Amino acid sequence: MKKNKNLKVSIVMGSQSDYKTMRSAEKILKKIGVSFETKIVSAHRTPKRMYDYALRAEKNNIGVIIAGAGGSAHLPGMISALTSLPVLGVPIESKKLKGLDSLLSIAQMPKGIPVGTLAIGEDGAINAALLAASIIANQNPSIKLKLSNWRSNQTKSVKKNPK
Ligand code: RP5
Repeated sequence: MKKNKNLKVSIVMGSQSDYKTMRSAEKILKKIGVSFETKIVSAHRTPKRMYDYALRAEKNNIGVIIAGAGGSAHLPGMISALTSLPVLGVPIESKKLKGLDSLLSIAQMPKGIPVGTLAIGEDGAINAALLAASIIANQNPSIKLKLSNWRSNQTKSVKKNPK
């Protein structure tokens, strides 16, 4: 495969209401220095937008897609059905079922179309960003170094003594 150092991460979410969770993914990518874009793309409210977005993703220099969705969360699976780029799903915490519905919808993809599923809510958004950075780092030594520095800083920040 040809190395492409300009690949970006694309963060999509089903609704404006998901942004309070998904902005944590933006923060991490900014800190590490990974290029990204952020969009609202809904599988059921804007199906044509989702279809066009997924079909053009590779041409648009996207290397990884992070898709956050809540409830009957079909967005990550639908996007993955339309592109062979890696898709990382973030289950958004829903009001009624606390995100268990989102988690199961995203994790239980039938075989053939994969979605890498992260934890519910902010932890999932943060880990999706870190995982996306690792995938981008495979093609980009400067991101690899920045990610490694980010991890070292995290390690240093953990005190030995809780008091
Ligand atoms: C999903 O429906 C979104 O991903 C969101 O988590 C959920 C609720 O959306 P809103 O009713 O808040 O717009 O499509």
